[in-house]
Amino acid sequence: MISPQTIQQITNRIDIIDVVGEFVKLKKRGANYLGLCPFHGEKTPSFTVSPGKEIFKCFGCGKSGNTITFLMELEKYSYVEALRWLAGRYNIEIEETEVSAEAKLHQQAAESLHIINGFAQSFFSQQLWQTEEGENIAQSYLEERGFRKDILEKFQVGYNPQSRTAFTQAALAKQYNPELLVKTGLVVNRNEELMDNYRGRIIFPIHNNTGKIIGFGARVIGKADRAPKYINTPENEIYVKSRILYGSYFARQAIDKNDECLLVEGYTDVVSLHQAGIENVVASGGTSLTTDQLRLIKKYTNNLTIIYDGDSAGIKAALRGLDMALEESLNVRLVLIPDNEDPDSYVNKVGTTAFREFVAENKKDFILFQLEIMLKEAGNDLNRKNEIVNQIAETLSKISKAEDFTKQQEYIRQCSGILRIDEAGLTTLVNKYKRDRLSKEEKKAPLPFDDAPPQYDNAPPDSFVEPDLFSHDEANEKKILQVLLEYGLREWDEQHTMADYMFEELEQFHFDNQLMERLFEEYKKAYLQGLEPTAKTLLYNDDKELHNLIINITISPYELSQRWDDVMENMHILDRDVSREEVTSSLLYFKMKKIKKMFDQNQQDMENAKTFEEQLRLIEIHKDLKKIEMDLIKKIGTVIMK
Ligand code: GTP
Ligand code: MN
Repeated sequence: MISPQTIQQITNRIDIIDVVGEFVKLKKRGANYLGLCPFHGEKTPSFTVSPGKEIFKCFGCGKSGNTITFLMELEKYSYVEALRWLAGRYNIEIEETEVSAEAKLHQQAAESLHIINGFAQSFFSQQLWQTEEGENIAQSYLEERGFRKDILEKFQVGYNPQSRTAFTQAALAKQYNPELLVKTGLVVNRNEELMDNYRGRIIFPIHNNTGKIIGFGARVIGKADRAPKYINTPENEIYVKSRILYGSYFARQAIDKNDECLLVEGYTDVVSLHQAGIENVVASGGTSLTTDQLRLIKKYTNNLTIIYDGDSAGIKAALRGLDMALEESLNVRLVLIPDNEDPDSYVNKVGTTAFREFVAENKKDFILFQLEIMLKEAGNDLNRKNEIVNQIAETLSKISKAEDFTKQQEYIRQCSGILRIDEAGLTTLVNKYKRDRLSKEEKKAPLPFDDAPPQYDNAPPDSFVEPDLFSHDEANEKKILQVLLEYGLREWDEQHTMADYMFEELEQFHFDNQLMERLFEEYKKAYLQGLEPTAKTLLYNDDKELHNLIINITISPYELSQRWDDVMENMHILDRDVSREEVTSSLLYFKMKKIKKMFDQNQQDMENAKTFEEQLRLIEIHKDLKKIEMDLIKKIGTVIMK
């Protein structure tokens, strides 16, 4: 966990214009900045950034948030990744809280490995481009394969010289810890002697989603007769094979834009396709896809297109585990490259346009593809065919999300056609598998309504209706939060801030709106920790609901409209300090509303009271409330609450 102090340090340092400006061209308009929205295609700018509020909002597509959410949405970072990105940018050292000793060691090792890998990458690049051996042996090989220098540089491809210890010596000279060097896989220990593991190989660095190098793929130059063609990094603190998609760092934005992810087998396939201008591509390393990898893809798109060579052993591996993709509503398609070519060689042979066309024309749905392969293998074996029918029905039963119903119907139609069986029969079978699974799940968890409270006929209907977030009733609650966020830290009197005063005044009261109550409590908590909360700092919170509430409270199209800002700027309306009046009046109206509610409740209780004693007691409450109400009304002045 990143410590609150560090988060505060980061948030203090953030300049939203500077960060957003890195991705969007912004022009100043009044107090705000305007640009073309990066989240949806538009020709006239409606993407507005308010540096004062540290918020962005697109009035075209409605996306809004702060610097952190901007990075999360655009770069697909997690909350913590976004914070780390910002910390890196502003050179802020991250302080971690509540980490166990074990976690700390893990993290220290991870950081050291990143550093060593970074050093190794620059060493290998330098060896490739600036040494005679690199030029004669590695550059010439890469050139022969048709790789351009700019693309090799983009992917930070390098070369490890043939000498047994070229890298090892360089790394030891830099005082890197030998044990960690072995952990990176760059160095091996042979009979107590450290030497290079990848000597004489082309080096493909593997980047994580923030661009740091977590491992390498090392390819022999030329044919691999005795040695393995590739050597990969062993599993360590930062290289976790099941979570790696080679090229994802360079492909993220293209995948987002194309709403499609192409998956190939090898490093060279990714690099060649990039060179051909096809950038929405990642590689799996030829093994079966893991849940983690599918989730990673699903962060960007629902459309996965697997492009493998026709006779690859990898196809079967890739198809294994894809049932899970169905449950996740991923649309998986498959393209097989013919004639012993792979995507790398094929795109080099036919060029970008023909490659794209080939993929578009030969995309096959993976379920139908799988079915065809199984049928081909089964031949005339009737038993086997029966098994296949059941297998496909079970697979189709996993398409279970309501919005995927039409998709399932379509599959049933197509599969029954291919199998030459009755469509209604297959539907029945699919439903049977669905029921089987459901009843299994039900046995595990009882029905949710089993012990729901009984419903009463004469219950007031309104009490069961969840009010709208900003229904009129809650305008007062919203106002309190608005005022608190805006003026809370200002001085009320010599010893107290406005927040102190408001907490004291509101001690007896609760918010009706749960979410608003939560925001109030969050503010209070941060304030009591001495964190000086504002809308800006509270937005650095991983809670989506709170997030939306804060933005809703602090921003509105009206406020952000350019003309309004210009008017405000010119008239200096904001020069007059209205904070005291706002604090006072918002508290009065808030309490007034609460009292009125208690009043109504009491009134109703009086009507329903069964005994005389009870009536008397309620009348006393009625009098008290009336007194408080009169008091409040006096304070508010002539205003009478409706
Ligand atoms: P080129 O032959 O250079 O075009 O590479 P490629 O990517 O086409 O290689 P290939 O199709 O043979 O293999 C696909 C992927 O499988 C590679 O990118 C590697 O990730 C992995 N792979 C291939 N050979 C080996 C090997 O010998 N060992 C290991 N560990 N992985 C390999
Ligand atoms: Mn290849």
